[in-house]
Amino acid sequence: MQKINLPDNSFMLSKDFLYGVATSSFQIEGDRKGRLDCIWDTFCSQPHTIEDGTNGDIACEHIANWKQDIALVDSLGVDAYRLSISWPRVMNADGSVNGIGMRFYINLVDELVSRNMKVFVTLYHWDLPQYLEDEGGWLNRKTAYAFEKYARIVAQALGEKVHAYATLNEPFCSAYLGYETGIHAPGKTGVANGRKAAHHLLLAHGLALKSLREICPNSLHGIVLNFSTCHAASNSDADKTATKWADEYHNQWYLKPILDGQYPAVIEQLAQDERPVVAEGDMEIISQPIDYLGINYYTRTVYRADASGWFEVVPPTDTNLTAMGWEITPDAFTELLVDLHHRYTLPPIYITENGAAMDDELIDGEVLDNDRTAYFHSHLNAVHDAIEKGVDIKGYFAWSLMDNFEWALGYSKRFGIVYVDYETQKRTIKQSGNAYAELVKSRINGYISGIK
Ligand code: FCB
Repeated sequence: MQKINLPDNSFMLSKDFLYGVATSSFQIEGDRKGRLDCIWDTFCSQPHTIEDGTNGDIACEHIANWKQDIALVDSLGVDAYRLSISWPRVMNADGSVNGIGMRFYINLVDELVSRNMKVFVTLYHWDLPQYLEDEGGWLNRKTAYAFEKYARIVAQALGEKVHAYATLNEPFCSAYLGYETGIHAPGKTGVANGRKAAHHLLLAHGLALKSLREICPNSLHGIVLNFSTCHAASNSDADKTATKWADEYHNQWYLKPILDGQYPAVIEQLAQDERPVVAEGDMEIISQPIDYLGINYYTRTVYRADASGWFEVVPPTDTNLTAMGWEITPDAFTELLVDLHHRYTLPPIYITENGAAMDDELIDGEVLDNDRTAYFHSHLNAVHDAIEKGVDIKGYFAWSLMDNFEWALGYSKRFGIVYVDYETQKRTIKQSGNAYAELVKSRINGYISGIK
C-alpha cells in the first residue's frame, strides 16, 4: 500500500507544521432552499454549462450531515479545517442577516473549536449572490463595498474563534474563468470584463481586510491565490516572452498588486479600453499588509507564442496525468514556491489547496487510490524541498476532504480523500485519506533543525 513519507528530520514531521483538509460551501452544502440563489445556481440552470448537467442543489448534503462530517475530519487527526461561507446563506438581499444561515456557521465553528481544530474561513469561494450579479456582479465597483459589509458581519458573528480569515479564494478563477472566458459562472466574456472584475475583486479584498483586522485583531488575515508554474514550450525568445506574459497575466496579476501595490508590466500590453479603471487610492487599499498568503497549486502549464506573440497554452503530451488531464509536476511546485520567495518579500505561506482528481472505484467498501496517495507524497515532498530552500511554509491543506461538485465538471471528477456515494451520501475514507491521517498522526512534538 502506497504511503506518504517525508525525510526523517523534516520540519513537516513536527507538530509545528499544520495539516488540514479543505472544502467550499457551494461544492458540498446542498440545501439550496436555505439560502438565496447565487451565480452558480443560475449558471448550472443554463444549457451546456456543466459537463454532467448537474448543480449544487444537493451536493454532499453537508448542511444536513455537518456533525458527522466534522467528526470525520477530526478522525483524520488534522489540525485545521478550511471551509468557506456562503454569502447568500448568511445575508438577505436587503442587507439584513439570515439568522438561520449564520447560526449554521457559528455552530460549525464552535464544533471545530471544541474539537481543538483551527478554523480557516474563506469568505468568498465563488458563490456571489445572484441579486448582486443582477446589478453587474464583479463588473460593478459597488460589489466590492457590498463584500466589505458582508465580511464585517461575518467577522462580528464568528469573531476570533476563526484562526485565519481569507477574503477571496482564487480571484483568478472568479475573474478570468467567470468574466473573461465564460467557462465559470456568471459566464461573461471579454478581456475588458475579466480585467475589470479582477480589479474589483482585489479592491474587495483590500476593503474587507481592513475591516477584518479591526474586528478580529488576533485572527490572521490573508487571501488565497492559485498559481500554475509557467514553462516555455521551447527556448525561443518568442516562447520565453510569451510565457513571461502568461505568468504575469495569470499569476502575478493578483499577487503583485497585493505585495507591491502595482499591476505587472503585462498591463501595458493591453489596449487602453481593456485595462481596469484604477481609482485614486485603490492600490493602497489593495496592498495593505497580509498576515499570510494561501497558495493553491495543482499543476504547471506550458505556453508558446501564438502568431501575434501573445501566449497560448500547449496541451500536455505527457501520459502522467490526473483525471482532470493535468500533468503531475511536483518539481514545478517547489520551483514556484522558491521563485515567489525570491521575487517578493512574502508573508508566511499556507498551502491552502493541493490534491488530485483520480478515477476512483469503490470496490468492496474500499477505494485503493494509490495514485492519489503518490500525488500527495510527491507534492508534500515538494513542499519540504521548498522549506529547505528557505520558503516560510507553515501548513498544508489537502483538497479536498471529500468528493464534491467540481464546478463546470459537475460530479464527474473526484478530488476527495473521502469517497462520497451521492445516492446514499455515505462517506468512505479512501486509502489516500488513511495515508494522510497516518502521516499527520506520526508527527512529533518540537523540531530541532537537522537533528533526527
Ligand atoms: C480550485 C478550487 C477548488 C477546486 C479545485 C480542484 O481551483 O478552488 O474549489 O475546484 O480547484
